[in-house]
Formats: sequence, C-alpha cells, structure tokens
Amino acid sequence: MRVLGIESSCDETAAAVVELDGMDRSVRPRLLSNVVHGQVEVHARYGGVVPELASRAHIRNIQPVIDQALRLAGLEPSAIDAVAVTAGPGLIGGLLTGMAAAKGLAMALDRPLIGVHHMEGHLMSPFLDPQAGEMDFPFVALLVSGGHTLLVHARAFGDYGVLGRTRDDAVGEAFDKGARLLGLGYPGGPAIAALAEGGDRTAIPFPRAMPGRRQLDFSFSGLKTALRTFLGQHPDKLEDAGWRRDVAASYQEAIVDVLVSKSLSACRESGERRLIVAGGVGANQRLRELLRERAASQGIGIYFPPLALCTDNGAMIGLAGARRFLAGQRDGWELNARARWPIERLAEGVG
Ligand code: KG4
Ligand code: ZN
Repeated sequence: MRVLGIESSCDETAAAVVELDGMDRSVRPRLLSNVVHGQVEVHARYGGVVPELASRAHIRNIQPVIDQALRLAGLEPSAIDAVAVTAGPGLIGGLLTGMAAAKGLAMALDRPLIGVHHMEGHLMSPFLDPQAGEMDFPFVALLVSGGHTLLVHARAFGDYGVLGRTRDDAVGEAFDKGARLLGLGYPGGPAIAALAEGGDRTAIPFPRAMPGRRQLDFSFSGLKTALRTFLGQHPDKLEDAGWRRDVAASYQEAIVDVLVSKSLSACRESGERRLIVAGGVGANQRLRELLRERAASQGIGIYFPPLALCTDNGAMIGLAGARRFLAGQRDGWELNARARWPIERLAEGVG
C-alpha cells in the first residue's frame, strides 16, 4: 500500500509517500518521495520558533509540498491508498493546517484518514533506512530536538513507555538559548558545535543536572543560567576567540554528557541493548562520538538514522500511518489535532 504522510507540528512543512506491503518484519518500507520545507529563515532573527509565523508559513507551503511529494513519487493523487497526518503533539496552528489538508485530500479521494502521534513517527525513522536491515523492536529511543527531550522505551509498535523527559527546556532550546547568549546565530546547535571545535571541553565545569526524584528526567534551565552568570562574570573575555571556544566546548559537553549517561542508564534499567537517537540534536557529532565510546564498553548498539530522517519529515508519519492502517486503525472526519498528547496514552487512540 502507498501512504501519503503529512507533518506540520513544528517548523517543517513536510510530505512524503511511503510504500509498505505488510506487517512482517522482513517487509521493508520503500520511500517514494520525501519533501521537507523548513522555516529557518522565518525564525532566525527571533532565535527560536515563533508559533504565529510558523502557522502562516505552513498555510503557504502545505499544498505545494504535498503536490511535490506526489510529483516526485511519480504518482497521481488517486494512486494513494491512505492519508496519514500528524495529529499531535505540537504547535496547534501548524497541526490544524496539516489536518485540514489531509482531511480535504482524503475526502476528495475517498481514502482513509489516519492520525499519527508525532513521537511514534520519530520512532519509525530507523526503519526507513535501508542500511538498518536488522533494526526491530524493542529498543530505547532518545528523542532530542528543539521541541522535545524524551527517553522512550519502545517495547513493540504502539507500546511505549516514557523513561525520562525534560522538566523545563528541550535540549535543542538549551543549544539555541546558549548560542544567543554567546551572540551566535540560529539554529544554535550547529553554531555552538562549530565554535566548540578545538576548544577545551573541561575548561569550565558547567553543572550536570540530575534532578533527584526521577533519575532519568532532564533539566536544562539551570545550565543556561550558569552560562549567563559565567559570561556576566567575564565581560573582558567575551571577544577572546580561544576563551569562547572553551566556553562553547564546555557548554556542549555539559549537555552531551547528561544525554549520554541517561540514555545508557535507560538501556540498563529497561534491559534493552539497542538505542536509537532521533531529532535535530542527533546531528551533534560530539553526542555521536561520546555515545559510541561509552556504549561500546556496555555492549549496547547505537543507531543514528540519516539526518534527513532524523529531523521532522513526512516519511516517518507515512510509515507510522501505514503500520497503523495495517493494524486496523481508521479515523473519522471528527479527528482533531492535539497540542498536548502524552505518548503513553497512545494506546487510547486518536481523536
Ligand atoms: O528536529 P529539529 O530539526 O526540529 C524540531 O525542533 O522539531 O531540531 C532542531 C533543533 C534546534 O534546536 C537545533 O539547534 C538543534 O536541533 N540542532 C543541533 C545540531 N543541529 C541541529 N543541536 C546540536 N548540535 C547540532 N549539530
Ligand atoms: Zn520532531
């Protein structure tokens, strides 16, 4: 079957066509097209995603992106068997735009509509990589982006438990806000990573937050404050290139160190030996390096999907939708977008 997947929960307007011919684990999905229209230029001057601007950009881009996904797949709209759309969680304006487009198309084509949980989409990204032949459930997933920071125990398709989540800022925000304090551009992750090259990671002992009650939860707001305080204490050094490199490297290390140690603890606690990393922060080279280094000694296999599948895209929504369709899910026209939707409650259904 061929499924059109539509994603618009944050700042990417995306659509893709995925082909899947069965639930058996030996059946690999095929990606027929994958179109992502980002909005970096819309939000750059604000240093973060502005929801109202994101909504307007989604409205402008959704139809052209869908048309292009169909064109690149070489398909007429009637060749689509189902329309899958991110129903939440995310920014409500963008979600409603994707939902309206999906409903319109499904209704016009007389095809089923399938609402997908954005995080379940991210969990699908490794399955879309032809290189990841042996990939299968169960695993632990570290989902890290500008909007989310989650450690998920993915026991089977549709059966997820949250092992840890952020109490305050998402990890991508920690990079973006840190970059702003250092006078760097947006998005902040790549900017901090570039500045950190060659810097001394041990120069400044920034705090590693380990909130007591739930050991696998994250907290990044204290780190951001520590950076602000530290910069305020050294006004004379702000232009010193070598010092700035050390600050960036130490700040990045404080973030990455916590992500790595909690991810590996999550694997130990759940008894899983596979860890996948998805979301924009998964692009961070130091995160990849440190995770590989520490995981190897513990016998844990790490899997990073290719970057195009790691960040928000329609392909992951199309694949989650196809699997839900094959498992019998059909949503009615009353399907609603939800800004908040805990992944643990996925089993209760959409709408
Ligand atoms: O998944 P994504 O593209 O979009 C959503 O937030 O949904 O993630 C964007 C986030 C931004 O906060 C950006 O600063 C961060 O990912 N990011 C990185 C890197 N590349 C992107 N963070 C650290 N290192 C990177 N190389
Ligand atoms: Zn995402």
